[in-house]
Amino acid sequence: MAISGGASGIGLATVGLLAQSGHKIAVLDLDASKSEAAAASLPGSGHIGVATDVTSTDSVTAAFDLIRASFGRLDGVVAAAGIVDPAPSATVTDESLQRLIDIHLMGAIRMARGAYSLLKDSGGGSIVCLSSMGARLGVAERLGYNVAKTGVEGMVRTLAVEWVPAGIRVNAVAPAWVKTPAIASLIDSGFLDPAPVEARTPMGRFADPEEIGQVIAFLLSPASSYVTGQSVTVDGGMTIQFPLPQTERQLA
Ligand SMILES: NC(=O)c1ccc[n+]([C@@H]2O[C@H](COP(=O)([O-])OP(=O)(O)OC[C@H]3O[C@@H](n4cnc5c(N)ncnc54)[C@H](O)[C@@H]3O)[C@@H](O)[C@H]2O)c1
Repeated sequence: MAISGGASGIGLATVGLLAQSGHKIAVLDLDASKSEAAAASLPGSGHIGVATDVTSTDSVTAAFDLIRASFGRLDGVVAAAGIVDPAPSATVTDESLQRLIDIHLMGAIRMARGAYSLLKDSGGGSIVCLSSMGARLGVAERLGYNVAKTGVEGMVRTLAVEWVPAGIRVNAVAPAWVKTPAIASLIDSGFLDPAPVEARTPMGRFADPEEIGQVIAFLLSPASSYVTGQSVTVDGGMTIQFPLPQTERQLA
C-alpha cells in the first residue's frame, strides 16, 4: 500500500490500521525523516518511507519506481497529502489558489497515474483519494481547496470508469471535521472555532483520524469489490441534518 501524506493526520492513522492488518506500507510524504519515522513506527516489517512531493510528477514517478523495486507489486494507493490555506476569495492570490489545486487535485491525479502501471501489473487494485465536505458545501474562504476537492470527485468518477479493464477501483472519502494537525493549526491560528462545529454536528464532536482510516481501509479491501467511482461521506451526520429545529421537543 502506498499513502501520500502518510506521515501525519488521516494518512498516518490509515497506515497504522493497514499495517495492523498485515499490509506492507510505503509512506510518501514531503520530508524524508518524517516519512521514514512514520514507516519505522508501524507494526510489522518491510515498510519504507519515501520523500515525495505530490506537486512534482518526477518525484511521484520516482516513488512508484522505488515501490516496484522494493515490493515488486502494489494493491492499494491513498492520496491523502494536503494543506489548508484559508483566505477571502476576492483577494486570495493566484499563487495560493494554484498551490491548493496543485497539491489536492493534481497531486491526487499524479498519485493515481503514477500507480497505474504497477497496480495493473499486480492484477488490479484500489485507489482512495481524500475529498472533503468542501466538495458539496459552500465553505467560505476555502475557494482553492473546495474547487480542488470538487475536481477530485470528478477525477474519481472518470478513472473509475476508464480503469475497470485494468481491475482498478477508484473511490473518494469525504470527511467533514477531523482532529488532525491541519485542523489544530486552523484552531490555533483563529481560523476555526471548534464550538459551533461540534454544535452543528449531530454526533457533537470531531472525527478521530482512525474513523476516516477505517473507511479508507474498507475501500482498499476486497470487502468493497463492487464499489467504484463513489465518494463516501464520513461526517457524524453533519451534511444530512436539516439545519432548523423540527420536533416539538426541539422547538420547546
Ligand atoms: N482534517 C480534516 O478535518 C479533513 C477534512 C476533510 C478532508 N481532509 C483531507 O484529508 C487529507 C489529510 O488531511 P490531514 O488533516 O490529515 O492533514 P495533515 O496536515 O495532518 O497531514 C497532511 C500531510 O500531507 C503532507 N503533504 C503536504 N503537502 C505535500 C506534498 N506536496 N507532497 C507530499 N506530502 C505533502 C504533509 O507533510 C502532512 O504530513 C487532506 O487531503 C485533507 O484535505 C481533512
